[in-house]
Amino acid sequence: RAAAEEATENPLRIPPLAPAVQDGDTRVFDLVAAPGRLAIMPGGESETWGYNGPILGPTLRVRRGEKIQIHVHNELGEPTTVHWHGMRLPADSDGGPHQMIEAGATWSPTWWVDQPGSTLWYHPHPHGSTEVHVYRGLGGLLYIDDDETTSDLLPNRYGEDDVPLIVQDKTFDEQGQIVETGRRGVGMLGTTLLVNGQYRPTFRVTSELTRFRILNASTARSYNFGFSDGRSFHLIASDGGLLDAPLKLNRVQLTPAERAEIVVRMAPGERVTLHSYPQDLGAPNVPTGAQHEFDVLPLIAADELRPSPELPERLTEVQRIDPEHAVTSREFLLHRDRINGEPMDMTRIDEVVTVDTIEIWDVENVSRLPHNFHVHGMQFEVLSYNGQPPPPELTGWKDTVFAPPGVPMQLIMRFDKYTDPNLPYMYHCHLLWHEDSGVMGQFVVVEPGE
Ligand code: C2O
Repeated sequence: RAAAEEATENPLRIPPLAPAVQDGDTRVFDLVAAPGRLAIMPGGESETWGYNGPILGPTLRVRRGEKIQIHVHNELGEPTTVHWHGMRLPADSDGGPHQMIEAGATWSPTWWVDQPGSTLWYHPHPHGSTEVHVYRGLGGLLYIDDDETTSDLLPNRYGEDDVPLIVQDKTFDEQGQIVETGRRGVGMLGTTLLVNGQYRPTFRVTSELTRFRILNASTARSYNFGFSDGRSFHLIASDGGLLDAPLKLNRVQLTPAERAEIVVRMAPGERVTLHSYPQDLGAPNVPTGAQHEFDVLPLIAADELRPSPELPERLTEVQRIDPEHAVTSREFLLHRDRINGEPMDMTRIDEVVTVDTIEIWDVENVSRLPHNFHVHGMQFEVLSYNGQPPPPELTGWKDTVFAPPGVPMQLIMRFDKYTDPNLPYMYHCHLLWHEDSGVMGQFVVVEPGE
């Protein structure tokens, strides 16, 4: 059958799980960032960058409560960093622009994993070159497991019914080489969609329910995911972990760096395509790619499917942060190339926050470009969005949130545990060209009275 041939011709590549060794109380991983070559398009091979392979990187899988260390060795021939996006961790392990790894050097951050199970990711963060480092191929998934996210009531077989999808757009020349081109408005918008670094893969579904962990690892493009026949699915997790309950949707929008875990049901022998639909990015006069459509991933269900348990009614209990306990609020106005009037400056600390306090951050995009807003070192909650309670898909833990022009939002967050008066964390727009060109600021977390 044609469908079966198609599926065996270009089956979706699943990023390997990174091996780890136990050293005393610490699980230790190794990442090597290096250039590579890979035939992605029919035209020929492209130069690429990747971790432990020609493109992207292995999935790091860690468990809540354990101590980890990651040796990152830089063979790129130029300085880079690796940031653990969405992790709660000390500032010196964060991997932002202050933790440069020189060419040939190794950086070995270590920390205790202490936050809910979730789908996080890692990527370079050298100030001014983050966009090109990610675009050339660097990035990978970092799963935190806990008893709820690995429950047998949820699809949890890696690569079978619990499937990572890293979605990116790139432009290729006729020889199949990735080209860095066309920076306008939001940044580089590629003409070709890749899933897990692969052009036009197909996924063969083997269970009644499949969980897709979708990461938008594009540098600039936002997606509006849905299925070609309009079927609904359940959103079970946002950036920082499970939602309280599965949320029935037929579209989920992800701006750069956001993640969604969705669960979709298929019948034996069925075919359907995960697609990205036109969307509203709130900036009609800017080239944003909002009207582009893409086939993301054709799904072909086997003639016999492994039975899956029904999704549970409750997934977790998201702990709400009480706004009554907020000690401060701060305002962040996102302009075209700066925040609150200031472009990013590595030597300037913009905000000083006291440890063990709760704050409300009022964020508004006052430019005409779409932005989003990401805060390092934690997960936050959305308290209000455009003057309203947040829509249900924004009621779980988030670390990155879409900020269309003219939409004010309030984020509530707790700055607990880690302090360093000298070493900042970042907050920024995750459209990487915007980040590189100044829409970023720095905060430190200090002891009371420091
Ligand atoms: Cu995913 Cu500061 O970044």
